[in-house]
Amino acid sequence: MQKIKKAVFPVAGLGSRFLPATKASPKEMMSVVDKPLIQYAVEEAISAGITDMVFITGRNKRAIEDHFDKAYELEAMLAQNGKDELLRIVRGVIPRNVNCIFIRQPEALGLGHAVLCAQPVVQNEPFAVILADDLIDGEPPIVKQMVNVFERHQCSVLGVQNVPREQTRQYGIVSSVNLEPGVDRVLSIVEKPKPEDAPSTLAVVGRYLLTPRIFHHLTQIQPGAGGEIQLTDGIAALMREEQLLTCRFNGTRYDCGSKLGYLQAQVAYGLKHPEVRDDFAAYLASMK
Ligand code: G1P
Repeated sequence: MQKIKKAVFPVAGLGSRFLPATKASPKEMMSVVDKPLIQYAVEEAISAGITDMVFITGRNKRAIEDHFDKAYELEAMLAQNGKDELLRIVRGVIPRNVNCIFIRQPEALGLGHAVLCAQPVVQNEPFAVILADDLIDGEPPIVKQMVNVFERHQCSVLGVQNVPREQTRQYGIVSSVNLEPGVDRVLSIVEKPKPEDAPSTLAVVGRYLLTPRIFHHLTQIQPGAGGEIQLTDGIAALMREEQLLTCRFNGTRYDCGSKLGYLQAQVAYGLKHPEVRDDFAAYLASMK
């Protein structure tokens, strides 16, 4: 039985929806309360037993590498000042058994192209793709829920959620038939269809478990929606050869690629954060 040990994080995007915040720093380093989006994504992978984190980066993304590196000066200073709790937090960003691998995507040719850049590291293993923009609060964490499906069926699994029909243009949309509770078999998948053309309202939301056969298809497909090499198109080709399932996860998703979703995440995570939750709840109540 194959296990998922590697996760790919496409982080080369420009983050133009958050300019000027993203002019000089990566959007994946924007924080929700006190933790950058990319760290939530990595923690989700770790909770699913994944140990190799493969970041597909681009220009202006140095901060991500620094975040997952040892910070000698900072650690020395915290140790010297007896700030043990902060030292624990800084050291805990990346556990000892976890490897971080960085690959540069030289040109922004699309999500499918970004995933293809991971092939030399992933090689012939099944792997996860996690989009840090989609912050998903679930218990167990979503990738773990999907790995449970993968371990039973040994095939590619997509994380999906129903979206309002007027939003289908923002997502990969699937049509499917039910297989077991929460799990469907995919019949078709299409990237960013118009609401009137969408085969359903079931959207792929930034979590994928894929067999390595996807790489073959990503080298074959032509540019699709927006002139980009689309992961969705590679998955559509994969589906003609292999079983493809969806996992309708339990959890709440925050679209941190949009300002509204990002603000909603700040509120939800602020109301859960042990240090500030009570004062923050009182503050919000006082605003009514
Ligand atoms: C990407 C994918 C799309 C998926 C979405 C999830 O789109 O191409 O299929 O539904 O992520 O967030 P993007 O948000 O990069 O436009």
